[in-house]
Amino acid sequence: MSQPEVFPVPEAWAKRARIDAAGYEAALKRVEEDPEGYWREIAGRLDWIKPFTVVKDVSYNREDFRIRWFADGVLNASANCLDRHLPARANDIAFIWEGDDPADSRKITYAEAHAETCRMANVLKSHGVRKGDRVTIYLPMIPEAAFAMLACARIGAVHSVVFGGFSPDSIAGRVQDCQSTVIITADEGLRGGKIVPLKQNVDLALTQCPDVRTVLVVKRTGAKVFMKPGRDFAYDEEKAKVSADCPPEPMGAEDPLFILYTSGSTGKPKGVLHTTGGYLTWAAYTHEAVFDYRPGEIFWCTADVGWVTGHSYIVYGPLANGATSLIFEGVPNYPTTSRFWEVIDKHQVEIFYTAPTALRALMREGEEPVKKTSRKSLRLLGTVGEPINPEAWLWYHRVVGEGRCPIVDTWWQTETGAALVAPLPGATALKPGSATKPLPGVKLQLVDADGKVLEGATDGNLCITDSWPGQMRTVYGDHERFITTYFTTYPGKYFTGDGCRRDADGYYWITGRVDDVINVSGHRLGTAEIESALVAHHTVAEAAVVGYPHDIKGQGIYAYVTLTVEAKPSDELRAALIKWVRQEIGPFAAPDVIQWAPGLPKTRSGKIMRRILRKVAENDVTNLGDTTTLADPSVVEDLVKNRAGA
Ligand code: WTA
Repeated sequence: MSQPEVFPVPEAWAKRARIDAAGYEAALKRVEEDPEGYWREIAGRLDWIKPFTVVKDVSYNREDFRIRWFADGVLNASANCLDRHLPARANDIAFIWEGDDPADSRKITYAEAHAETCRMANVLKSHGVRKGDRVTIYLPMIPEAAFAMLACARIGAVHSVVFGGFSPDSIAGRVQDCQSTVIITADEGLRGGKIVPLKQNVDLALTQCPDVRTVLVVKRTGAKVFMKPGRDFAYDEEKAKVSADCPPEPMGAEDPLFILYTSGSTGKPKGVLHTTGGYLTWAAYTHEAVFDYRPGEIFWCTADVGWVTGHSYIVYGPLANGATSLIFEGVPNYPTTSRFWEVIDKHQVEIFYTAPTALRALMREGEEPVKKTSRKSLRLLGTVGEPINPEAWLWYHRVVGEGRCPIVDTWWQTETGAALVAPLPGATALKPGSATKPLPGVKLQLVDADGKVLEGATDGNLCITDSWPGQMRTVYGDHERFITTYFTTYPGKYFTGDGCRRDADGYYWITGRVDDVINVSGHRLGTAEIESALVAHHTVAEAAVVGYPHDIKGQGIYAYVTLTVEAKPSDELRAALIKWVRQEIGPFAAPDVIQWAPGLPKTRSGKIMRRILRKVAENDVTNLGDTTTLADPSVVEDLVKNRAGA
């Protein structure tokens, strides 16, 4: 293989970066020699109501399993994001909101964000929400989404944000799992000029959630929506009744901050639980270190707050650092494919963080939509969510950044809280397609399928051998599932579920999931979830779903469907099944390809051989490997012959 291109740290960056090469080396050395001191210093960036004395208390062994950081410290996340910037920076901008319609935007100062958050917190309190209660947030990308999260944090309630693209069924499952009795939503959302019926989705979800007693409805479009007396309240009216003063609740460092549901290889989505002290420390530290963030700069992360990226890099990280964070309601191609770049010019964005899938889609439109904008304000670019192919990286660097902006490719997961593998732009030479190296204190290991540790340049399964502050603490309501999912494949290690290559320079190249999770446009989906949605349709007897390489989405969804004897394959049925999955999970989970499969390749014990299904989907059918263990090898011939033209 030819050597990949290397981009050294630009001279100007080497001179003025927050962390330069020497600083990076010093941090690596320090965390080895004096880990306690290193972590203490990192956590010292937060305001503690009561300082911690214990830094780390961790064991990954089943017998005495525990993950605790700064455990006896007391703090409040919302006070760290808001109050401590007051009064000195009361008039600094906390959020710039850019609406779906380019004519719609507004700026919110730290003083205003504080007042809005306090009001929202008082409304929650007036509806009986107490410390430890779970509150579900199902909002579009409007400032109230951030206020709602911070309001929960303020009173010690645990938020569970559900992405606005999820269906009523998906909302219901998440509300039931964490037994939340209060939901914050909006009348409607607006994305790319299209209406998203948020309140209507909540109403449908709530037919399955009898315990929900309060729905707060934020006004976004002003549409008239159904309001159930005694349950549904117009947020505007509730807000007018409460004061803008709400003292922050003192929280233990290990008290839960939020739950965020994410897909795994089996079963229903898991409620990933993050706690207060460690999570906020890691979100804030990485936001400053990886993005070389400086006070006064405008930071734009294009993710939705419904995903972890939005939690850590729209709300908690930037606000803990007193940054100006841009909240964008729209989509990259509305009203035109120049939208991202126009927003950058309009608000003079300095740091821009997006997903490879968006870049690949925009790249297709050519350079013109980019080049007609200035982008002079930009100084750093970032990506997250999936591996970035070198072509997209190079385009981002050359066309968007005009060769002057380093790109930080950040690898992390919902479970890790914030970035773990990423360059420090003032210290790390870049290789397009590699997330480069672990941040100081992050201990990666590559192992083979049997758990044997692999050294040097190699391919393997990516594990982490020791904890970092932002690590998830449990699966909500199912601690056993947490330990089994992450710490038993390779006992004593956290297994990421990702495959990875390490090159001779010690750079890491994530190759994608090695489990049954797929990554579609940066959205993480369990194939099992899509399968169970499909078999819930009356025409489907059995279904198996795999990912296949997709030019724009990274991975596409390929479904093999066995119909019941009564059902007949047809294009109409295919369309109906795609629509069905959209309704069951959400539009982003719709299969790209459905192949009718009279039978699925199974072992004699009945296990579906996904390896074969993946190969057929990828159209790599010359080497299907060993098929002798199949119960009925002829099934494979049929699958290959009738392969859908993906
Ligand atoms: C993938 C998103 C390559 C990876 C923050 C991981 C990446 C999963 C990168 C987590 C990256 C994320 N390069 N792959 N820079 N970032 N991934 O939980 O497979 O939605 O396990 O968190 O996305 O997805 P999640």
